[in-house]
Amino acid sequence: MSNRAELIESGKPFAFDAERDAEFERLAKRYPNRDSLILPSLWLIQDQQGWISVESIAYVADRIGTFASQVYEVATFYTMYHLRPMGKYHICVCRTLSCYLLGKQQIVDYLQQELGIRPGQISEDGRFSLEEVECLGHCGSAPVVQINGEFHENMTVDKFKELLSTLK
Ligand code: FES
Repeated sequence: MSNRAELIESGKPFAFDAERDAEFERLAKRYPNRDSLILPSLWLIQDQQGWISVESIAYVADRIGTFASQVYEVATFYTMYHLRPMGKYHICVCRTLSCYLLGKQQIVDYLQQELGIRPGQISEDGRFSLEEVECLGHCGSAPVVQINGEFHENMTVDKFKELLSTLK
């Protein structure tokens, strides 16, 4: 059972666009157990609209032929699914041991100061959201940051300054 935030409504119906619909159908052939489609379907939702809404949960449950509560449990268990809209650039800073020891906090402190947001918040203009996450699996090149899914390794504050200036 998750203790994460409740799902919220987007206020509009959800359906996969043509590209995600084709991908869903392709994946459906791969999984004899339909419930195994939940994880990749949640990725498809997030890829399409950036976050997981109540409406998208209901839609995917219906497409899979399972209970919405089942999809909800999965969506709220894994921290990589966003249960609310995120910034245009969603910055994830790894906070696990290697990154912790090699300076992730300086990066978080810099971002907090520069963007005016703390982990879990979105900047007022909607451009940036910041999150601290568990190990991103690239411990050999810590500290590691992900921006919209793209990895940035061996990060330093100076590298981040340069990187931020490229994000419009
Ligand atoms: S500890 Fe940061 S990527 Fe593994």
